[in-house]
Amino acid sequence: MKKIAICPGSFDPITNGHLDIIKRASTLFDKVIVLVVINPVKTAAFTPQERAEMISVATEGMPNVEVDTYNGLLVDYLRQVGATAIVKGLRAVSDFEYEFQMALTNKMLLPYAETVFLTTSAQNMYLSSSIVKQVAQFGGDISEFVPRRLHKRIKERLGPRQGLPAGE
Ligand code: PNS
Repeated sequence: MKKIAICPGSFDPITNGHLDIIKRASTLFDKVIVLVVINPVKTAAFTPQERAEMISVATEGMPNVEVDTYNGLLVDYLRQVGATAIVKGLRAVSDFEYEFQMALTNKMLLPYAETVFLTTSAQNMYLSSSIVKQVAQFGGDISEFVPRRLHKRIKERLGPRQGLPAGE
């Protein structure tokens, strides 16, 4: 039986930290589905379709990685596609409480599914989509933070001209 894992997240936008986790997950499972989950609580800079498209570009050349979008309970998606694992990256202690809570909730809802935590690579410890957005909004260099092929697109969307007017 094929082992299918889901890498869920907001990915607004995908960072090099996400990409590293996806790449490493793709060596552990037969198939990895990167799932852009719509979180109504978060205000997003990119639409779910745009985020999925950027992930597709970033994961080109990873034959067992697919991308999808979803608006619902993660465990329902796992059931639909026959996945048995959820892969998440853990950066620091600060991630732990939230991730642990989600992992236990998902375990209650779908006991056969396992959450697998991969420790983030040292160079990505500090990285998050929010940090990328903040740096880009003020015209900073995001080239070390996001996949190379997406620099231009992310800068164009988030760059200073698209940010808040001075003083706000
Ligand atoms: O990148 P994020 O925003 O930290 O990812 C959080 C995400 C999308 C994985 C989480 O919010 C999620 O799984 N949402 C789907 C709704 C759900 O299943 N909630 C119950 C598990 S806590």
